[in-house]
This record gives sequence, structure tokens and C-alpha cells, in this order.
Amino acid sequence: MKKLEGRVAVVTGAARGIGREIAKHLADDGADIAVIDVAVADETVAAVTSAGRRGIGVVADVTDPDALAAAAERIGRELGDVSIIVNNAGLHPHQTSIDELDYELWQRTMRVNVDSMLLTVKAFLPQLRRTGTGRIINMSSSVVNVAPVGGVHYIASKAAVVGLTRGLARELGPDSITVNAIAPSIVQTPGLAGTGISDEIIDAVLSQQIVKDFTTPADLVGLVGYLCTHEARLFTGQHFHLDGGIVLSD
Ligand SMILES: NC(=O)c1ccc[n+]([C@@H]2O[C@H](COP(=O)([O-])OP(=O)(O)OC[C@H]3O[C@@H](n4cnc5c(N)ncnc54)[C@H](O)[C@@H]3O)[C@@H](O)[C@H]2O)c1
Repeated sequence: MKKLEGRVAVVTGAARGIGREIAKHLADDGADIAVIDVAVADETVAAVTSAGRRGIGVVADVTDPDALAAAAERIGRELGDVSIIVNNAGLHPHQTSIDELDYELWQRTMRVNVDSMLLTVKAFLPQLRRTGTGRIINMSSSVVNVAPVGGVHYIASKAAVVGLTRGLARELGPDSITVNAIAPSIVQTPGLAGTGISDEIIDAVLSQQIVKDFTTPADLVGLVGYLCTHEARLFTGQHFHLDGGIVLSD
């Protein structure tokens, strides 16, 4: 029996990029998968079903509580109670100096990167509680520690993800729900390419790594899968730095 057999996972933002690789890996580990994305996720769903698992794609905006309520009802009905949430959907906003940063971009970044995680958790919390094996994994970023120039809005949003993770871990632990965050360094995805991120910033981040290599989705999917297992039930409230040693933890 595969280690996540019988489990249902929601992966947000899994139509492409890191989320797609997480969805495929969890399916390989035996979980049924629901993708929630503003984009159609046919390719991801096809990969899930070819791994022999059930997969559905729900086109919805994770900042919209009504859309999330409808998604939770449909996913619960079609796949069963969700016990794993991977809050991966995120906005890579354009780099901009504090002088050029307009309030609308700040709000949009916060809505997509932070509010979405809270809203997704709230929509699925009754299902997670019923399973008795709830797992929530939130995508943070090494920008929290590197704080590159031009990223105030993105840095603040990912720092808020860390706070959200810790607060939720404290409140949901009594329900046997663990909550963790993963902070990868630079991963070359379509989303990152769209930011117009400069070579200087990429070099600045890599220069802070002890092991100077780009992170790939393959480097992090195993950690996500492990955190979903029974054996990982005592890891909670943690911020895992997948960053070549930018942060040297205790
Ligand atoms: N790529 C990196 O270097 C990097 C580094 C650290 C952390 N991260 C984080 O990892 C996560 C995934 O990053 P990626 O590079 O794969 O991104 P990406 O832009 O390639 O993919 C993001 C996905 O999220 C979806 N999405 C965006 N807004 C949405 C919304 N409101 N509702 C539903 N779906 C929405 C998009 O349609 C897309 O499919 C993000 O949270 C990002 O901040 C990325």
C-alpha cells in the first residue's frame, strides 16, 4: 500500500510550476488530487489519473470565499474529505522600489499570497478535522530571509505566511492537524520568469547560498510528501528552508 493511499489532497495553483510537480508527486504517493487554480489544469489532472489516482481540476480564484466554499463542497462530494492542503498558489509580483510601489499592487499581493491561504484553510477545515490526519503545507520563500531590493510587497506577504503557519499550528494541533511552511530559494518557473527578475537579484540570492545551485521542484516534492505522512505528525509550526544554506537553523 502506498503511503498516502486513501487520502485526498488539495493543491492550489497546480496548473503549472511547482504546484503541478507537488500534485504529481502526491498522486505517485497514492493520494487522490484536487487542483484549484484560476487556470485550467488539464495537464496536471491527466498526470494524476495516469498515475492511477482520481484527479479533478476546479477553476476558481483562491481569494474568493464563495468560490472556495463551492470547491470544498464539490471536492468533498466527488473525492471524499480532504486531509491535505498544499497552499501553493501565489503571485510573483513585479519588482518595484518602495517609491514606485502602489497600494493596489501591495493589496493584490497580500490577497493572493496570504488571504488565499487563510480562506482555503477555512473552507476545508471541517473536512480536515473529520479525517483526524490533517496536514497543511504553505509555500513561503527564502525572500523572507534574503529581503532582496524591490520586493517589499512580496517579502512582507511571505513573512505573513510564516506567521499564519505558526498561528494555525498552535490552534489546530489539538485536532491532530499539522501546519508547516516551506521556503525554497529561486526555482525557475513560468511565474518567476514573468516577474522580470534581474540577473543581479538572482546572483545576489545565489551568492548567499552555501551550495550555489538553483532549487528545482524535484528538490521539494519529497519533503511535501513526507510531511503528509503519519510519521511526520510531530513536525508542526516549522519553516523549512530549502535554500542551499542561506539560513542555518538551530
Ligand atoms: N519560483 C520561485 O522561485 C519560488 C521561490 C519561492 C517560493 N515560491 C512560491 O511557490 C509557489 C508556486 O510558485 P511558482 O513559481 O510555481 O508559480 P507559477 O506562477 O509558475 O504558478 C502559480 C500558479 O498559481 C495559480 N494562481 C495564481 N493566482 C491564483 C489565484 N488567485 N487563484 C488560484 N490560482 C492562482 C496560477 O494560475 C499558476 O498556475 C508560490 O507561492 C511562490 O510564491 C516560488
